[in-house]
Amino acid sequence: MEAAPHNQAETELTVTSPEQMRELGRRLAKLLRAGDLVMLSGELGAGKTTLTRGLGEGLGVRGAVTSPTFVIARVHPSLGDGPPLVHVDAYRLAGGLDEMEDLDLDVSLPDSVIVVEWGEGKVEELTEDRLQLVIHRAVGDTTDEVRQVTVTGLGERWIAAGLEALSA
Ligand SMILES: Nc1ncnc2c1ncn2[C@@H]1O[C@H](COP(=O)(O)OP(=O)(O)OP(=O)(O)O)[C@@H](O)[C@H]1O
Ligand SMILES: [Mg+2]
Repeated sequence: MEAAPHNQAETELTVTSPEQMRELGRRLAKLLRAGDLVMLSGELGAGKTTLTRGLGEGLGVRGAVTSPTFVIARVHPSLGDGPPLVHVDAYRLAGGLDEMEDLDLDVSLPDSVIVVEWGEGKVEELTEDRLQLVIHRAVGDTTDEVRQVTVTGLGERWIAAGLEALSA
């Protein structure tokens, strides 16, 4: 058996409804701070945007988090004094990071919480550390609401960040 790398923290949880997924986002928000990158993976309809909606609620940002059709990234400013949420749908971001930098988001990424759907192989270099969430259906059936979520914190930032609290 291979030992887990020492600069990696991982926790797994089961979510049984969209409302619980949203609640997971709200709980996750409490652990996040400016400069954090969260990458969400999972097939179409896995629940990435649903989780981000909860995140937005937890961070207390303006505007409802939606699934943008023609928008690659949307900035949700904080309603208080917290960091803005930058929600990126990298599905159409063919060029990766350069293209992301060309978006002229009018916000400083190190001052924001960045959440990226479909970002694998495209946005990893934005930050040294990152949180990776993989959501998958426990059952193949697309009408089933049970999701398995694996949360992996990569890098120093996440070692003692208390990810275990998410599954409590
Ligand atoms: N446990 C669950 N968690 C999240 N969503 C669920 C769950 N069970 C059912 N759903 C439903 O699945 C759909 C998830 O849609 P959502 O837009 O969040 O997915 P997505 O991963 O962002 O998809 P896409 O890849 O198209 O962006 C919603 O209609 C939601 O109601
Ligand atoms: Mg989505």
